[in-house]
Amino acid sequence: MPHNSAMTLEFNEAVKRMPAYPAAGGYALAEPVVLLASNESPYPPLPEVVAAASAAIEGANRYPDPTNARLREALSDRYGVPIEQIAIGNGSCDVLLAVGAALLEPGAELVYAWPSFSVYPQLEAASGARAIRVALDAQERHDLDAMAAEITVATRLVIVCNPNNPTSTAVELERIARFVEAVPSHVCVLLDEAYCEFNVLDDPDASIALLDRHPNLVLLRTFSKIYGLCGLRVGYALCGSRELPDAVNQIRQPFFCNAAAQAAAVEALRHQDEVARRVERVAIARVQLQDGLRALGIEPADSQANFCWFDLGDGRDETDVVSGLANRGVLVRAGAALGKPGALRVTYGTPPENDRFLEALGEVLAGA
Ligand SMILES: Cc1ncc(COP(=O)(O)O)c(C=O)c1O
Repeated sequence: MPHNSAMTLEFNEAVKRMPAYPAAGGYALAEPVVLLASNESPYPPLPEVVAAASAAIEGANRYPDPTNARLREALSDRYGVPIEQIAIGNGSCDVLLAVGAALLEPGAELVYAWPSFSVYPQLEAASGARAIRVALDAQERHDLDAMAAEITVATRLVIVCNPNNPTSTAVELERIARFVEAVPSHVCVLLDEAYCEFNVLDDPDASIALLDRHPNLVLLRTFSKIYGLCGLRVGYALCGSRELPDAVNQIRQPFFCNAAAQAAAVEALRHQDEVARRVERVAIARVQLQDGLRALGIEPADSQANFCWFDLGDGRDETDVVSGLANRGVLVRAGAALGKPGALRVTYGTPPENDRFLEALGEVLAGA
């Protein structure tokens, strides 16, 4: 049959509303580059983790465990959350979108801060719900009072991203606890903790105690960042009740988490010494970047994550800076695509990668 390029399909409203995810480029580049654009870990998985994933691949003629039993047991052991209150996903984004699918519909409302994680706008686009975006405060942190003021009878979901992507900032758990206390119990509060392990303001696991008091609370976490497994896609949610995991499992396809990802995640959880080492490396990189940026006259936001965020100032167009850096083999993210023109988001790399970024930025800003 001859190829007919005329468009005849009629797509639904959700497709027309759906924003394109601003994914980083550079994955197909042949030249060695410094990838600081996607908040990944620069450190590969441990050999034991690779071995566990490889062993799972040898059995890939079988479907993966659809109940994710071993992984949920391992998470339950580690965090003391009942296994029925744990949802697994193909990355934490999968759980996030399933929470949206389970809770939202036309007439419903969701509240989140902006700028925040680029996937949140997909929630209103997919469901037809109304999104209320609340501006960050002057330190580019969540303004929880302003968010609480936006909750109405129609609100089904409130998202707090802590630490926040793209601004890297965090709010203290004590303030989050007061916020959750004030939210009506029929509203789901999703605390997106993708970067919580890097946060030094609070014990990263202190939020788990809130689940006992708030059945409407969900802590969204991932193996993509601290565990360095984003290429395998596995994330999880620790929930205050079993209703939400049941609903998100009901609304998704079965087998949403592949066998290699499940096996790798179980093994990675056994190596908390490596987690501690990575947290320490990120803390060192944070100081390296902070000092280097200040030497260039730039003041970054107070980062509690594995990346930094800063305004270039002087009304400077960041797209020129991003391409200047790319020409020097360093890929970072322009603020415009993430909600704030004139800003840059830069993931911490290894110490030599961070040096290379700082040197390249110095050259670009000097117009070299
Ligand atoms: C705030 C936030 N939440 C969730 C995710 C999703 O990560 P994944 O789907 O890889 O678990 C990311 C990834 O960048 C993120 O920045």
